[in-house]
Amino acid sequence: MATPEGTTDSVPDHVPAHLVRSIGMLVSPEFLADPYEFFPRLHEDDNPPLFYDVNPVMGNTWMTIKHDIAFKALRDAEHMTTQTAGIFPRDPDHYFRLIPQELNPPIHRKFRNVLDPFLSPKAVMELERDIRALANQLIDGVIDRGACEFTEEFARPLPVTVFLRFMGLPLDMTETFVRWVVSLISFAERDKAIEIMSEIEEYLLSVIEEKRTNPDGAAISHIVHGRIDGEPLAERDIYGFVFFLFIAGIDTVYAALNNTWVWLARNPDRRAEMRADPDNIDAQAEELLRVFGVTFSGRVVTQDFEMNGVLLKAGDRFQSLLPSCNYDPAVWDNPREVRFDRPRKPILTFTGGIHACMGGHLARLEYKIALKEWLRRIPEFSLQPGCEITYRPSGVIGPDAVPLVW
Ligand code: HEM
Repeated sequence: MATPEGTTDSVPDHVPAHLVRSIGMLVSPEFLADPYEFFPRLHEDDNPPLFYDVNPVMGNTWMTIKHDIAFKALRDAEHMTTQTAGIFPRDPDHYFRLIPQELNPPIHRKFRNVLDPFLSPKAVMELERDIRALANQLIDGVIDRGACEFTEEFARPLPVTVFLRFMGLPLDMTETFVRWVVSLISFAERDKAIEIMSEIEEYLLSVIEEKRTNPDGAAISHIVHGRIDGEPLAERDIYGFVFFLFIAGIDTVYAALNNTWVWLARNPDRRAEMRADPDNIDAQAEELLRVFGVTFSGRVVTQDFEMNGVLLKAGDRFQSLLPSCNYDPAVWDNPREVRFDRPRKPILTFTGGIHACMGGHLARLEYKIALKEWLRRIPEFSLQPGCEITYRPSGVIGPDAVPLVW
């Protein structure tokens, strides 16, 4: 990835020394031991609401763990942009924008309009039956065995299959797609990023060509044949849109499922509570998605301005640490506690503002179906005795594997 390596020497002069921290996001032993212990602890450790973080893999950046500051930053298109915040290396002579993520208003909305109708709550509800059938088929494959590697056998195939059908991509390429995306977002495999980017490009460009002549009613076809103000999309914009969706849609849901199942496996009472109240699935899912946020939102400051009494300068990087913002005690009482009767407050797992996740409705639907069907059919399960749950520094946070027994 193209993020500059952060060092204390490269902290700019306008950053007050008392705001400099090095919290160890993605890299410290504490983070790697258990990110979901790390995120709430950032509040308990008395970090300033807005601080300047020095990090060897994420680079130097302003960072907030506060819900209100993140909410403001994510809505502030006047002072913040996603335009130069992207982390994937690109050839300047053959550049493409990550669409819609790197677009600013008003063009951003026009691009989203090409695909938003296919990801609306109504559109995704039409997929419910198929998703439920797939979840049950995956459970059929493991239930009599009394054990499984949850990631490989359920958490990954469920959302990845749904996503590839949505995109119109072949299911028999699943393993390759997952390998590409996981390597690309891994901070440990930065040196491979350029090579993987070109493999993905070669493949996706061939798919785009294919959909041009053989449209199939799936997302890539909608983009290839989409129009903005009556005009077809530019070639590089078609690619940037397809590429970004591909990266955004593959591993986010399964990371959320993995994190949740580690917790479920360790908390039999809470599983029983959920099963006893299946009609409360919306609140259960929203609360679990609050505590298991998997990614964060990077921006770049476009003009000098003051935020929370701190001067931010044009060109500074800014990170809203969403999984930690979801533990802000000013918004959620006793935030570490998982409570299914909390008053509904906006969680930041899918971020907020104009770049709010386009796949949020689909992801929530898959997540709820997974919870309901698994708990109904495999109510008792635990982590395989002696197994170690491990994490890697990655742009999407979740354990590498979740071995279960029942
Ligand atoms: C649990 C699952 C998911 C989580 C936690 C998640 C999270 C996020 C977050 C935090 C952002 C904002 C990034 C930023 O502010 O820079 C985002 C944007 C986005 N996500 Fe998701 N996502 C998930 C699933 C999906 C899926 C399944 C898709 C595709 C079907 C998707 C498509 C997108 C797109 C296209 C954007 C960019 C929106 C824009 O810039 O306007 N996401 N997602």
